[in-house]
Amino acid sequence: MTQRTLRLNADAAGLETAAQLLRDGALVAFPTETVYGLGGDATNGLAVAGIYAAKGRPSFNPLISHVPDLAAARLHGVFEPLAELLAERFWPGPLTLVVPAVVGPVVSDLATAGLPTIALRVPGSDIARALLQRVGRPVVAPSANLSGHVSPTSAAHVLADLDGRIDAVIDGGPTLVGVESTVVAVAGGVATLLRPGGVTRAMLEAVLGGALAEASEAGQADPGRPASPGMLASHYAPNARVRLQAEVVHAGEGLLTFGGARPAGCENAALTVDLSENGDLAEAAANLFGALRRLDAAAVVAIAVVPLPEADLGEAINDRLRRAAAPR
Ligand code: TXA
Ligand code: MG
Repeated sequence: MTQRTLRLNADAAGLETAAQLLRDGALVAFPTETVYGLGGDATNGLAVAGIYAAKGRPSFNPLISHVPDLAAARLHGVFEPLAELLAERFWPGPLTLVVPAVVGPVVSDLATAGLPTIALRVPGSDIARALLQRVGRPVVAPSANLSGHVSPTSAAHVLADLDGRIDAVIDGGPTLVGVESTVVAVAGGVATLLRPGGVTRAMLEAVLGGALAEASEAGQADPGRPASPGMLASHYAPNARVRLQAEVVHAGEGLLTFGGARPAGCENAALTVDLSENGDLAEAAANLFGALRRLDAAAVVAIAVVPLPEADLGEAINDRLRRAAAPR
């Protein structure tokens, strides 16, 4: 693929260069409020194929099309009243809506993996929306990491995985949310949670006035083609083995802790990282992927993780940790 990856600033000149590259079919990583995405023109099949190749991603995973606002989203997806309600309440922000694709789609079949639905998102990051505005086309963007690896929350993380494999990266500093968007499918008046993320279950259910449907009901009709790679067990994985619900730390392990918890044997830890000393789940989410990368860089024999609360952003954090710990 490419030889050199351009480093761009998140200013007008950098965004203009990035937009031009994207319109020309190049691959540009950019910050969103959740994680850095690896962007490509969603209407250009070659660019989309390049994303799969750069990431080494299984081709059955459909991608999210990013657009600058709801009006742009309506050009590509059919928004029934429930989808309109969620979009109006949570966009711009860390929510992805899976809705029926409009007939005569301009988005490449490769981006939707041939599904009759499309995933759309209006990111909360001003940099991302300014970029999308300039591109004037939907931009697909999976997290800008090698497939299955830890998601990037800084430009340095992107380059650690993809330097030389992509055309450019916009450096917009660390991301604020730190875990990916929540993915919700809307059809026939039912909202189904496909992936927990930056918008919590409680926030969604407050707007819906009732419970979300669960992915297992809608998502496992065809096990060969998951409704969401949420269904792929190993994901978000550091190189070191991850051990969850740790109540004791063994010699040489790294410790990933929360709220100042100090499990037995913690003095044996090669490195201890606290996701949030104050026990703040939003701070923990923002720190999660960077913490896994730091522990990996310390070459620990395994990463012991203390139990984390399941409430609010804890659901998304625990989801990512379970996948990081899954058999490879
Ligand atoms: O926060 C995020 O969502 C980041 C940033 C860069 O925007 N992007 C991201 O993309 O996490 P990715 O490709 O890693 O995740 C896409 C998710 C997957 O769970 C995928 O299965 C789901 O969206 N998805 C996409 N299209 C779908 C569809 N038509 N039906 C069901 N799920 C879909
Ligand atoms: Mg990803």
